[in-house]
Amino acid sequence: MLLYTLKSEVKESINYEINLKKTIGLVPTMGALHQGHLSLLKHAIIACDVVWVTIFVNPTQFNNKNDLNNYPKNIDKDLKMISKISKNVNIFYPEISEMYNSKLKSEVYDFENLDKELEGKYRNNHFNGVGTIVAKLFELFKPNKAFFGEKDFQQTRIINKLIEIKGYKTKLIVCPTVREKNGLALSSRNNLLSLKNKEKASVIYNKLVYAKENYLKIPFKIIYANCKKEINSITGFELEYLEIVHNETLKKENIIDLNKSYRIFICVLVNDVRLIDNILVK
Ligand code: PAJ
Repeated sequence: MLLYTLKSEVKESINYEINLKKTIGLVPTMGALHQGHLSLLKHAIIACDVVWVTIFVNPTQFNNKNDLNNYPKNIDKDLKMISKISKNVNIFYPEISEMYNSKLKSEVYDFENLDKELEGKYRNNHFNGVGTIVAKLFELFKPNKAFFGEKDFQQTRIINKLIEIKGYKTKLIVCPTVREKNGLALSSRNNLLSLKNKEKASVIYNKLVYAKENYLKIPFKIIYANCKKEINSITGFELEYLEIVHNETLKKENIIDLNKSYRIFICVLVNDVRLIDNILVK
């Protein structure tokens, strides 16, 4: 298991691996790892000769200072979790200055409005920050395959567009969402919830399932109102959005076309901790 903090070290290893014609897999993370991250890692190990996990809390994708400062960190635990899965996985754990030099700013991309929907309405410039760091990582690792979670489905659409814009050869692999027994999607941010609220947060997935089961029977406005009432009645919980959108454009459509594919997205704030989830409806 290699643990590097410098790009120059990574470059040397990657050149060596490319010369040996190894298939390179990349799993970008912000650490505070959980079974969701590890499932990406397991997919990557099966599909690639060499696997790199990156652990970097990327400042340019945080529009809220508190969110950035409170973001959970536990590098020792992360390294142990990775080494339990495999001793052959390599890790890149850079300092901010290594990734950004003195210019802590994101690039501006034309994601054709994918970045303006859903999370984009509430997190100004977030996806430019994601695009900036992922572009830096793709250019450093030149991965054949990169593994991302369906839990952050909007992010996967953004990465897909980034690959198109930049002409990267990397294949995007989207891995299914790993959940708690009660349905709550695993997230590093769940560490910031009390045990009680973690249990109560099962309402998020339950409401997605309710919406999926009823979107053809009940007007979505009513579904939204029912969900909002129930979620907001829990102390500290607030529904930020619940939307049904086209699976690829992520745009709302006035009429549901049964020949098209849709996805329902939800965001709930639990004492200001942002929890997101989504479900494919067809
Ligand atoms: P992070 O939130 O650490 O997530 C890293 C990867 O793990 C993402 O692809 C995310 O979708 C996936 N993931 C998170 N929870 C999951 C779950 N419950 N099941 C399956 N996959 C899950 O997403 C980021 O970091 C950052 O934006 C990053 C892409 C690293 C860029 O900074």
